[in-house]
Amino acid sequence: MSFQLRARSVRLAWVVESCGARSSEYLVGRNALDRFRLDGKVALVTGGSRGLGRAIADALASAGARIVLTARDGEVAAATAGSVEAAHGKPSLGLGVDVTHRDQVEAMVAKTVEAFGRLDILVNNAGINIRGPIETLSEDDWDAVVDTNLKGPWLCCRAVAPILKAQKWGRVINVSSMMGEISMPGRTPYSSSKGGLTLLTKTLALEWARDGINVNALCPGPFATEINTPLLNDPQARAQMEANVPMARWGDPTELGPAAVFLASDASSFMTGTTLFIDGGYTAR
Ligand SMILES: NC(=O)c1ccc[n+]([C@@H]2O[C@H](COP(=O)([O-])OP(=O)(O)OC[C@H]3O[C@@H](n4cnc5c(N)ncnc54)[C@H](OP(=O)(O)O)[C@@H]3O)[C@@H](O)[C@H]2O)c1
Repeated sequence: MSFQLRARSVRLAWVVESCGARSSEYLVGRNALDRFRLDGKVALVTGGSRGLGRAIADALASAGARIVLTARDGEVAAATAGSVEAAHGKPSLGLGVDVTHRDQVEAMVAKTVEAFGRLDILVNNAGINIRGPIETLSEDDWDAVVDTNLKGPWLCCRAVAPILKAQKWGRVINVSSMMGEISMPGRTPYSSSKGGLTLLTKTLALEWARDGINVNALCPGPFATEINTPLLNDPQARAQMEANVPMARWGDPTELGPAAVFLASDASSFMTGTTLFIDGGYTAR
């Protein structure tokens, strides 16, 4: 770098620092792609045994993170962790955890720190859907969906708070949904839970804004995963969904991973409380 260019960078960096930015290193000679790296970080992905959670775990590992992924079925979680480790050469651990149980959530966080000595990134991805008109749904249906999709992330956020606050760095990614913003008939528990999760995201973003912890939501549109089996197996429902997506197709889980890397990394350092839609244009209409 020439003397003049260096002097200009230093002056610019001083201006940025005096505006409250954390570091001038972003302005001096740092490749933008380096800011997406997650080397040395540990990421915990709930519901990481398949579908979108698995794709997110894969993407975070490919960027350098060590991974703990969980699901109620511990055997499948362990097998998926083995595949992630084999694919990316990053130590990965799979655990059987039900996110609706406080004691299991707290044990999950303790085991993560025990295994890897730290925890930097929490991805609240575990989720379920029970569809139907309101009068056909039971109170148990409501409780199952809301406990998994909303209470679970709340318990997980509460459990990681002391760790992230103490290290003054953290990333929380809540996998909400476009159905937290818009809705359709037959989705009362699901849309209510995801709308709540989007607002949980904003509230915690404000609570933790000065603690170095960024909290953001990923809002997927329709992706071809197990949660959508009832729609994928029904030719009419399947075609209807495709017709409603401007890109006229279902998302592939691998199309979510890079956005998770962005939100988990320093690349999104000035973003908190946002919702990032990955929906083939569905919510643009
Ligand atoms: N696919 C879509 O179109 C779409 C769209 C918008 C949002 N999302 C959201 O994306 C997330 C992932 O969905 P997906 O499509 O990947 O669904 P999926 O293939 O059914 O995967 C769900 C994951 O969550 C786990 N899980 C479910 N209940 C759990 C609980 N109580 N405790 C811990 N883990 C639990 C499942 O494992 P076990 O069954 O072994 O527990 C599995 O690993 C969900 O939050 C979903 O609402 C999906």
